[in-house]
Amino acid sequence: MCGIVGYIGHRQAVPVLLEGLHRLEYRGYDSAGLALPHRGKLRVTKTQGRVQDLRDKADTATLRGTVGIAHTRWATHGEPSDANAHPHVDATGRIAVVHNGIVENAEQLRAELTAGGVELVSDTDTEAIAHLIARELDEAESLETAVRTALHRIQGTYGLLVLDARRPTELVVARNGSPIVLGVGDGEMFVASDVAALVHHTQRVVFLDDGEIATLRANEFRTSTLGTDSEQTDKVPTTIDMAAEDYALGGHPDFMRKEIAEQGEAVRRALRGRLDDRFATAHLGGLNMDARELRGISKVVFLGCGSAYYAGQLGAQVVEELARIPATAEPASEFRYRNPVVDPDALYVAISQSGETLDTLAAVQELQRKGGRVIGAVNVVGSAIARQCGAGVFLHAGPEISVASTKALTNMSVSFTMLALLLGRVRDLSAADGQRVVEGLRALPDAIDKVLTDEPAIAEIAQRYAEARSMFFIGRVRAWPVAREGAQKLKEVSYIHAEAYQASELKHGPLALIDPEMPSVVIVPDDELLAKNINTIEQIKARGGPVIAVTNADLPANVADDVIRIPRVATELDAMLLTIPLQLLAYHTALALGRDIDKPRNLAKSVTVE
Ligand code: F6R
Repeated sequence: MCGIVGYIGHRQAVPVLLEGLHRLEYRGYDSAGLALPHRGKLRVTKTQGRVQDLRDKADTATLRGTVGIAHTRWATHGEPSDANAHPHVDATGRIAVVHNGIVENAEQLRAELTAGGVELVSDTDTEAIAHLIARELDEAESLETAVRTALHRIQGTYGLLVLDARRPTELVVARNGSPIVLGVGDGEMFVASDVAALVHHTQRVVFLDDGEIATLRANEFRTSTLGTDSEQTDKVPTTIDMAAEDYALGGHPDFMRKEIAEQGEAVRRALRGRLDDRFATAHLGGLNMDARELRGISKVVFLGCGSAYYAGQLGAQVVEELARIPATAEPASEFRYRNPVVDPDALYVAISQSGETLDTLAAVQELQRKGGRVIGAVNVVGSAIARQCGAGVFLHAGPEISVASTKALTNMSVSFTMLALLLGRVRDLSAADGQRVVEGLRALPDAIDKVLTDEPAIAEIAQRYAEARSMFFIGRVRAWPVAREGAQKLKEVSYIHAEAYQASELKHGPLALIDPEMPSVVIVPDDELLAKNINTIEQIKARGGPVIAVTNADLPANVADDVIRIPRVATELDAMLLTIPLQLLAYHTALALGRDIDKPRNLAKSVTVE
């Protein structure tokens, strides 16, 4: 949520900044801006809208210089507008700040600044930081000291990058709760919220920790702790094994399409080295638990937000089936605000693609405070949730750029199936059943690739229903999280209202909404509930409702208006595979409606605010 880019070195900064912002745009896209120093003053260009609007507005002929900072915003305090776009500047026009996060005591600081005669020109929390830093400059021996002192006044979260126009040979950056990564080049340094903005320039990076501050010059950087008795932290750069191509479209029209197509490969990566044919189990070394500890787990609770929560529901289902221990899922955003009874024998699983979602991070912290054992299921290595948990399962989905999650969710489900297998095999899951699941998992990538070959037929169905005002997604038991995820994906990228409902609950109310204008997508796994699901379809059809059945079963002829057929893998795994056609259905509906698929309105990829 919000993307920060900074550069100091020997190249012209503006192209580097714009290119970096473009790569971070998935983090927020309602306004953008940049600042460069020029003869002791700042040159700032900012605008409401996309990075392209900034590119159009920035006068690259005059905006010259080899140091600068930039930002792409997802609005929290203050509506999207030119004035609220970052960078924010102090009254003397010397200090420019870009910020990701939320200043919780912003109102108090803004009131204090106004009372002191400062004229605030935006509605943002960030502007106050620029003024506070400027106020410290006279007393402070360095920009870093001024930033450090100002930050002692800030309550809240930040990834912060600061430029002083009178010190154009350095940048200062600090982190508390919002990610910051430094890129170390040859006589040049980069700063960003995500490696996506850096990998084109360097693969040597330093991840700042919470509570760290750094001063960067073209040839060096120095990191230290933010506390009053600051200590140097002597960070050594690590080499990331991600290539620029991982962040490029590679011939695909958009990232959602690319990431859907990558799922087979992403699952192969998640399974690599983790399946064990000899003992018909899985190895998840990152859990750091031996068989005795695994056997001692009394229940499993999955916590995540949005689609990650639905993946957790699917995980809970498969853990109960394979391991026969109670398992549930709950939105992390709810969990953190109630006063949950924390069971010391339970295993809590914090699920997050980005590893940044604030609600999930807060749930982890709350759990740890209360003595809960929590592991992460995270895609981004080195992210806040991964670090906070300390143990867990990395998803290995590769970078996910599209705001609508696809391949990371599939790898969540795959990881939870491996966890369920592991927990089952130290209990009473038979070797034969264990091996059936191992083989099902191994068959999954090819089955996904097979589903994807059906894309033209799914696209045709999507085009036919694209004018619907609203749609139901119906599922039962294993298919219930699938229906929820299907509805979520459709809403998110097409803006068509979609509601997921349990098949068993339809007749308790929502059936009243069924008519020829209300299509229902019914998820029909080939399992012991098949007959009941066929009955559900018939109930909808009897009221004139169009039905799209998504199934791996042989349905009676003409029972549904449209049928999307997928292959079978194993009863406990089929739910995962049933989500793939729903991604394509949402994608092609959005495409037919001309939506901005990778950047749905009002959303951003990593939700680092409440
Ligand atoms: C939907 C989607 C969101 C995320 C949610 C959690 O497509 O992507 O619902 O699943 O915001 O994000 P992470 O997994 O990064 O914690």
